[in-house]
Amino acid sequence: MEVLQNIQLTKDVFSLKLGGEFSYEKVQAGQFVNILIGDGKTHPLRRPISIASCDVEERSLTLIHRVVGVGTHWLSELKQGDRIDLMGPLGNGFPLPDENSKVLVVGGGVGIPPLYELCKQLSKLNCYIDIILGFRDEDDLFMVKEFEKYGNVITCTEDGSEGVKGFVTCALVNDEEWTTLYSCGPLPMLRALKEHFSHKEIAGYVSLEERMACGVGACYGCTVETKDRTATKRVCKEGPVFSWEEICL
Ligand SMILES: Cc1cc2nc3c(=O)[nH]c(=O)nc-3n(C[C@H](O)[C@H](O)[C@H](O)COP(=O)(O)OP(=O)(O)OC[C@H]3O[C@@H](n4cnc5c(N)ncnc54)[C@H](O)[C@@H]3O)c2cc1C
Ligand code: FES
Repeated sequence: MEVLQNIQLTKDVFSLKLGGEFSYEKVQAGQFVNILIGDGKTHPLRRPISIASCDVEERSLTLIHRVVGVGTHWLSELKQGDRIDLMGPLGNGFPLPDENSKVLVVGGGVGIPPLYELCKQLSKLNCYIDIILGFRDEDDLFMVKEFEKYGNVITCTEDGSEGVKGFVTCALVNDEEWTTLYSCGPLPMLRALKEHFSHKEIAGYVSLEERMACGVGACYGCTVETKDRTATKRVCKEGPVFSWEEICL
């Protein structure tokens, strides 16, 4: 695909817009692409990045990523007109609820981007969307205005420099009657959410950002245990989205 735009959103978060040949019509919110870093000779393992937004009419994809190592650093330096090799859309997506449902969307850090495409889809279903976004501090905030187009947004920061102080669960003071919770972020956050709602009737779907190797179900390098610990599931193939009843968080 061709790089249309590469914008720095925060100190270490970048938004990469890509155009070119891609199965845009097939994209489901929650799916990811697996990107070849450079010519693949120095770093043969592709890096998985979620699809933050897919514009079928414009024929473009937006990926939002945090620079943590060589691969994401390489992505951050791409310029308009550069070409990259990626595979996708991969994995499953978030199951969508009935029209007019009242849903809760919770994202933490770089777990936030795939929830943006999800909110676009939920809004087409006329859902009422509450959104909680967790960041490290005020300088780490990104995409908040974009999410505000689709629902009521509460931001949380670990140091209290913006919004509610503490983790995303600190924003859950008055629980509403949500039918479904969608979440992506660090495992401790997903566990805390599950614990918080353990006595409520709410369907929970979590997207896992496990480390991956092949990204297409061949190497079993990304497995998680099922809830009863009797089997495993591949995050790249059977996930990255799972019902929280299905897996051992
Ligand atoms: C399905 C899926 C979707 C993802 N979506 C996004 C996204 O939208 N935006 C985004 O910024 N990141 C996302 N990630 C995480 C991203 O894939 C990794 O940050 C990236 O592969 C790191 O590559 P690197 O070469 O920069 O880092 P490396 O040099 O490989 O590693 C640098 C550091 O990052 C850690 N690291 C690497 N991969 C992961 C991982 N998967 N989880 C936790 N720590 C990791 C390493 O342990 C190491 O400490 C996603 C991961 C998965 C599995
Ligand atoms: S990364 Fe190879 S099976 Fe998932």
